[in-house]
Amino acid sequence: MSIEKKIQQLEENNRLAELGGGVDKIKKQHAAGRHTARERIKELLDPHSFVEIDKFVTHRTTDFDMDKQKYLGDGVVTGYGKIDGRLVYVFAQDFTVFGGSLSRANADKIVKIMDLAMKMGAPIIGLNDSGGARIQEGVESLGGYADIFYRNVMSSGVIPQISAVLGPCAGGAVYSPAMTDFIMMVKNTSYMFVTGPDVIKTVTHEEVTKEDLGGAMTHNSKSGVAHLMAEDDSQAMMMLRELMGFLPANNMEDPPVKVCTDSLFREEDSLDTIVPDDPNKPYDMLDIITKVVDDHNFFEIQPYYAKNIIIGFARFAGKPVGIVANQPAVLAGVLDIDSSIKAARFVRFCDAFNIPLVTFVDVPGFLPGTVQEFGGIIKHGAKLLFAFAEATVPKITLITRKSYGGAYDVMSSKHIGADVNFAYPTAEIAVMGPEGAVNIIYKNKLSEQERQTVIDDYRARFASPYKAAQLGYIDEIIYPRQTRTKLIQALEMTQNKVKNNPAKKHGNIPL
Ligand code: HXC
Repeated sequence: MSIEKKIQQLEENNRLAELGGGVDKIKKQHAAGRHTARERIKELLDPHSFVEIDKFVTHRTTDFDMDKQKYLGDGVVTGYGKIDGRLVYVFAQDFTVFGGSLSRANADKIVKIMDLAMKMGAPIIGLNDSGGARIQEGVESLGGYADIFYRNVMSSGVIPQISAVLGPCAGGAVYSPAMTDFIMMVKNTSYMFVTGPDVIKTVTHEEVTKEDLGGAMTHNSKSGVAHLMAEDDSQAMMMLRELMGFLPANNMEDPPVKVCTDSLFREEDSLDTIVPDDPNKPYDMLDIITKVVDDHNFFEIQPYYAKNIIIGFARFAGKPVGIVANQPAVLAGVLDIDSSIKAARFVRFCDAFNIPLVTFVDVPGFLPGTVQEFGGIIKHGAKLLFAFAEATVPKITLITRKSYGGAYDVMSSKHIGADVNFAYPTAEIAVMGPEGAVNIIYKNKLSEQERQTVIDDYRARFASPYKAAQLGYIDEIIYPRQTRTKLIQALEMTQNKVKNNPAKKHGNIPL
């Protein structure tokens, strides 16, 4: 064969591989409001940075006449490229080829990319859009899944692993995304469930649509399985790019620093009056966060789930931090099962990847009630306590208002290893709120008028930051308007922190 012919052959093979399942299947994918695997990769990565691997891999099955149906690439596009100039590995399931289902060959491609990502110490992003196990391949496909799961676990805490679910993701296939650090879903076009609506109807007689069962809003607001939600594929890719900007390439690196043009000494006078006089009046903790971070830019994670706690990424002086904050505007900022789990997992992510933690506290305590107790608030609340305590990254805490009871200890208190603890003059740090304390100490011993006097006295003496400051539990009571500068100074002071927990195989976080 002449050299021209050989080049032509390569061109033809490339064309075929890039066509995936063909023009009709691509049209169907677009009609369903979804992009193809290659279109997604193009939007996700910096222009011209994608390098594809294993483009000509095909499956090896002969059952069900499969040897007569082969597509170059076999339903998954894999390779590496850059986001803002930084290396990432990516695999994108191609729904136009056998519904993106996972064959042995297809799994081998993903495994190869995962191994490369670990060896080179760079994040991996999986774009999922698949009908699950390649049914024609049976147990070989299951083996492929397990090979991926195993690598998900081995990579956890070593390189960031991000999943976008951009179409179907059902059955055991959900467990790969579930073990990654963040899951993105897209409204109306993506769904995740262990068993679909038909099986549910047969087994439990419940009738539920795919969207209600496992759509983006369900997993972002009800189950807490997903962390981010986009309107469409393009927005999903943009959000993934933004998320990657906060993350280091691996657990041995610091997160990337951006040039900061926001003044380090910017004062926000409005913060002096942001906490209402009335301790029972809500305010929005997001206002405080956005006023103090660089460029008012806060990238919230799980904004629709357990809204009584806020988690997300921001930068101070150009350096990424993870923010955890009680939200007094929702359920008075109380800690409950869902909010404890939400925040605990985030704290552990930040700690694994050297991202300092800034914690804003306004918490009246743990939510009372049988639902919480029977649901295991003891062990779930302990998750957050455990996560904060074991975290060795710089930990800065600011109490804006209430910090009562066990929740005071849990919310990154000095006692569990926080490095700098600030309080606003409006802080109330005590074993419990004035009403509760007086009810217990003076049970049935006071008239209504006496009771009110004692409550006011308790509030004046104990519901303040001064007792904690006298004891050194609070390092400084700050002027709220100076919050930004104070947090930046504390982060700068702690940036070379070295803290090692005792050597062990691993702790036993209360799961
Ligand atoms: C092989 C598959 C496939 C699969 C879809 N296709 N899923 N081929 N194995 N798992 C093929 C279809 O035959 C079809 O081929 C093409 O992909 C597109 O599928 P459609 O059904 O036309 O698309 P749509 O109507 O959008 O429906 C998508 C779907 C449906 C909901 C995902 O295809 C479906 O229910 N598939 C089966 C899902 C499933 O049961 N998977 C196995 C679960 S067990 P043609 O040639 O007709 O276009 C599992 C175990 C994992 O995943 C365990 C891990 C531990």
